[in-house]
Parts: sequence; structure tokens; C-alpha cells
Amino acid sequence: MAHRVGIVGASGYGGAELVRLLEAHPQLDLEVVAAHAQAGQPVASLYPNLPGDRVFDDVDLGRLTGLDLVFLATPHGPSLQLGAALRKAGTRVVDLSGAYRLAARDFSRWYGEEHPAPELTPDPGQPGAAGDGDDTAQRAVYGLPELFREQISGAGFVANPGCYPSAALLALAPIADRLQPGSVIIDGKSGTSGAGRAVADRLHFSHVHADLTAYAAPAHRHTGEIETWLPGDLGAVSFTPHLIPMSRGLLTTAYGTVADGTSAADVQAALHAAYDDEPFVHVLAAGTFPHTKALAGSNGAHVSAVLDERVGRVVVTCAIDNLGKGAAGQALQNANLMLGLEETTALTSLGVYP
Ligand SMILES: NC(=O)c1ccc[n+]([C@@H]2O[C@H](COP(=O)([O-])OP(=O)(O)OC[C@H]3O[C@@H](n4cnc5c(N)ncnc54)[C@H](OP(=O)(O)O)[C@@H]3O)[C@@H](O)[C@H]2O)c1
Repeated sequence: MAHRVGIVGASGYGGAELVRLLEAHPQLDLEVVAAHAQAGQPVASLYPNLPGDRVFDDVDLGRLTGLDLVFLATPHGPSLQLGAALRKAGTRVVDLSGAYRLAARDFSRWYGEEHPAPELTPDPGQPGAAGDGDDTAQRAVYGLPELFREQISGAGFVANPGCYPSAALLALAPIADRLQPGSVIIDGKSGTSGAGRAVADRLHFSHVHADLTAYAAPAHRHTGEIETWLPGDLGAVSFTPHLIPMSRGLLTTAYGTVADGTSAADVQAALHAAYDDEPFVHVLAAGTFPHTKALAGSNGAHVSAVLDERVGRVVVTCAIDNLGKGAAGQALQNANLMLGLEETTALTSLGVYP
């Protein structure tokens, strides 16, 4: 029997990518494609790659709570409210925003506001820990399946990781126990779809085209997320994102000082041990570097590491599609796990290249 699902924020980039993926899912019926300002508009009027008769729905909580699972592809403000309301009604939720990725105290620090539902925020000490035994009070699970698959499977509430943290954590987690605390620096670069569909001055073609710039350093919200979910205790990390003149794609380059005695072979072995059985993460041969374009439209991640023995630092790069493994693809991977379906269902397409 098919599961009935809906999307809130279907008119945004992440939501529309979910519509594209869900149209091909054999076990999920997409019943609601809700939007805010765009409610009532034909989906195809905004997304010509999604032909058909669908029209963006209004956000109707009563209708949403009748579904088996709802994806929230909304800014963190609406997600804070909708996530709590849907969970109260017992509806499964995958939230693509940053509303439930951090413990309440860390959320206040990085988002500058009190969390309205601290009891639903994740507990990084016990990812996946239940609240008071009531399923609807279960804390959100951080939805990076390669680290927390067991906790995500069957969970009611999953906080989908941010796009930069997805790539940075996939790059660093396997070798975290070999890195010296305080030594990690991450450089991230994302295409403009990472900023969403809303019009903004800095995203105009004439501003972005043939340009490259950093932004939001040193306090981008994803810094706190990376520090929270990086295994072990590596302390503070430095993270600087950059805006790149391309539509899709994200690359992180992470640097860290390795413990004495760590060899290039140790680093390769750690990456292969972590990912050789993973369906979506591929380790490239040392000296081969990931291309964002190779992942376009897919849920894949390409990881590659080199050890700079001269300075004792490892350099790990990871490329993803920010709308794929960085958002909608990963959200669907999580939903498959939550509903007990094959994890890779409707996600096996390889990237489009060139
Ligand atoms: N873009 C990425 O690469 C990416 C990656 C990872 C995570 N995320 C996160 O995913 C979420 C969606 O991102 P996006 O890039 O898809 O954003 P977006 O393109 O700006 O879309 C936002 C969506 O939220 C809807 N919305 C806005 N206010 C709402 C409200 N009060 N109630 C209900 N719906 C509302 C919008 O509807 P209308 O357009 O109809 O007003 C639109 O569908 C964000 O939290 C973002 O941080 C994005």
C-alpha cells in the first residue's frame, strides 16, 4: 500500500526538487503540494520541468495531519510552528530547515531566538533519544543516514541536515578521530539555488555572473551544526561559505591537522571503511578530486582526501548537489528509512554530466 505524503514549501527550490523525485516514487503518493504566496498557481508555471495539472495548495493543517508523512521545505520560522503542530498530531515529519537541527540552547545561540518547542529539539549526546516515551514527544533525529541510520529508521521526526554540513560531515566524520581538536577549517562553495527562490539583490545574474565572493563568516549558522554533529570532541571549527556562479552544486574543502603517525593509507582506509557499503557516497582515488557537475540531479556525494605530509594536514573535499544530498534527495532518503522502505527508492539516478 502506498504511503500518502505532502510537501509544505513545494514552490521553493527544495520543495520543487522533492516534487520531481516523488513523481517517480512507486510507494509514495504525493497528495499535497502546499505553498504560501504561490498557493493557487499551477506548479508548471514556476517549474517547467514539472508538467501536469498540479496546482499549489494552501497550507491546511487539518489536511496535512491526515497524511503519513509531511516534508517541510519552508524557512525555519514556519518550520518551527508546523513541525511542532504536525508532531503533536502524530504525523511523521522531515524538516528541511534549520528549525530542529540543534539542541535548544545552541539554536538560541546560532539563530538568535528562543526555541518554542525545546522538548522536540535533538539531543546530540543521545541522537534519536525519545522524549517521555510518547512517540509524538520524540525528539528530532539529525537526518544524516550515513551517521545515524539506526536512529532515523522508524523515527517520527527527522531534521534534514543543512547543505554545507551534509558535505562537511561526510568529508570529516570518518577521520574525525585522527584530527587534532581546534585544527579544523572548512571552506564551502555553493551555487545560487542554495539561497532559495526568493529574489535578492546579491543573487541577480549581473551580480553573480563571473563573480566569486565569501559571505557570513565567521558565524554562518551551519558552523554550529557542523560542530554539533562532528563525531568526537574537535572543538570549534572555522567555516567560510562562498557563492559561486552556478545554479546547483556544492563543494566543501576541509583541512585538519592529523595526529602524529597518521599516514595517507590510514586516511584512505578510514574513508573506504565508512563508505564502501554506502549506496550514495563514493570515495575517489587519492589525487582525484570531486566535480560538482558530476552530482547534478543525484543524491550522490563524492569524497576525496590527500595528506599533505609536509605540513601534517589532511585535505578532504566533498561534492554534492545542494538540492540533492544537500536537501531534497537526503530528505527522501530519510523518509524511505522512516517508513521502512528500501532506502534508495526513487534515488538511484546518477548525476547529469556534462
Ligand atoms: N536551497 C537549498 O539548497 C537548501 C539546502 C538545504 C536546506 N535548505 C532549507 O530548506 C528550506 C527551503 O529552502 P528553499 O531553498 O527551497 O527555499 P525557497 O526557495 O525560498 O522556498 C521557500 C518555500 O517556503 C514557502 N513558505 C515561505 N513562508 C511560508 C510560510 N509562512 N508558510 C508556509 N510556507 C512558506 C514558500 O512559499 P511561496 O513561495 O509560495 O511563498 C516556498 O515554497 C529552508 O529552510 C532552507 O534553509 C535549502
